[in-house]
Amino acid sequence: MSRILMAASEATPFCKTGGLADVLGALPPALAARGEEVAVVLPRYRQVKLEGARMVWSHLPLWVGPGRYTADIFEVVRHGVPYYLVDCPQFFDRDGLYGTAAGDHWDNPTRFAALCHAALGIARHFFRPHIIHCHDWQTGLLPVYLKQYFHGDPTFHNVRTVMTIHNMGYQQRIGRDLLFWLGLPEALFRSDLLEFHGRVNLLKGGLVFADALTTVSPAYAREIQTAEQGFGLDGLLRSRADVLSGILNGVDYAEWSPETDRHIAAHYSVDDLDGKRACKLDLLQTMGLPTDRPEVPIIGIVSRFATQKGFDLIAAVAHDLLHWDFRFAVLGSGEREYENLFRALAAARPDKFAVRVAYSETLAHKIEAGSDIFLMPSHYEPCGLNQMYSLRYGTIPVVHATGGLDDTIDGETGFKFWSYTPEAMLGALREALRVHGEEPERWQAMQQTGMRRDYSWDASASAYSRLYDSLR
Ligand code: ADP
Ligand code: GLC
Repeated sequence: MSRILMAASEATPFCKTGGLADVLGALPPALAARGEEVAVVLPRYRQVKLEGARMVWSHLPLWVGPGRYTADIFEVVRHGVPYYLVDCPQFFDRDGLYGTAAGDHWDNPTRFAALCHAALGIARHFFRPHIIHCHDWQTGLLPVYLKQYFHGDPTFHNVRTVMTIHNMGYQQRIGRDLLFWLGLPEALFRSDLLEFHGRVNLLKGGLVFADALTTVSPAYAREIQTAEQGFGLDGLLRSRADVLSGILNGVDYAEWSPETDRHIAAHYSVDDLDGKRACKLDLLQTMGLPTDRPEVPIIGIVSRFATQKGFDLIAAVAHDLLHWDFRFAVLGSGEREYENLFRALAAARPDKFAVRVAYSETLAHKIEAGSDIFLMPSHYEPCGLNQMYSLRYGTIPVVHATGGLDDTIDGETGFKFWSYTPEAMLGALREALRVHGEEPERWQAMQQTGMRRDYSWDASASAYSRLYDSLR
């Protein structure tokens, strides 16, 4: 068994913008349940409440380049896992995790470099790990600092690092002059180290310096080694293929199960789907859609509005969709262009399209439970969680066959399309609607097969355990 310190920028229930938070909320407890000793380091953002938290360290010094800062460290224990909240108000006591509607926070590189230093301070003073497990670009500098500053330090002797890629689309590329402000020597500005097309790439730092690399599905582990999906780092990933593996994320069924979900109108299960009808009615009412003809299928979407998620395909066929007999329930926020697209569709056909531009935990659950079909046409998808949630709720996924979507959905549980074109997406949707309308028994069999699929965290946690063991 290992002692593992994870460092990341979000985790449920503290702070969340996407699936990274779900992973950091569920994987550490799943590892702890297997007997691993795990702790997680997170920023204490403005929205993170400290009720019930205990201060375990005050004035931890954080030296980021020429900057001298201090942080208080608060601990909250969840399911046997200490979450260490780094309270450094000048970096984290502000609106938005990474930015606001006006744009990204200008000092994100320094903010998250400070988080890396806080994690190293925690490792030095009170949670001595065998493994430091980093997630995404925000903690990409941690393995760099470790090797750069602490290679001779007995505290960190034999400490190994794992870097998990949740999304190659976010790398944080910055100007060369920032090396100084981040306390990194110019010697790192080399194409085989942190340099990337004349800039400094923070994710690349983690990918070069970590001992092992993982990503969140086996398919994505292969895809990021190609020019199409590698976002410029495919060559580096190919050169490190021997230490790169794909471990599929899991589902926290304590949160996402129609038998117990506290957000939905009625409970149901694989053996008794009856309650799903009440959930559908509740969703129609909540979204302000007509409640007549309840047999008309609802297509649900819950997503960050980002190009990654395939909204360009929906935009391309929006006009055709206006004539189809279904209802669309959309929840999301992000890029203006897609917010406007769905608002325009809802204005044109309020009987068919309903959109909430918001972040709402409750509505996300209601859409999973009340929809018939869940649409995820992602251009790329490292893992994707909503398609797995959909399976559990008897809501049939229609997905682009990419990354984790390809790994988790098959012909028995959903509908896939392979070429990333509007026509291919329409073809899959049309087939789904046909089966829904014409083959109710097959539809129910697909629902039940999906509901019985088991994507619990335990299998993923055991794969991570094996990886940690192999590094020691
Ligand atoms: P990504 O991390 O790329 O956004 P995932 O499918 O891995 O995609 O995870 C997205 C997570 O964020 C899911 O738990 C989903 O329910 C949630 N989510 C996304 N947008 C919203 C929203 N507007 N309101 C509530 N939850 C959302
Ligand atoms: C990222 C990916 C998503 C994945 C999540 C958690 O945000 O876009 O596919 O499920 O991280 O690993």
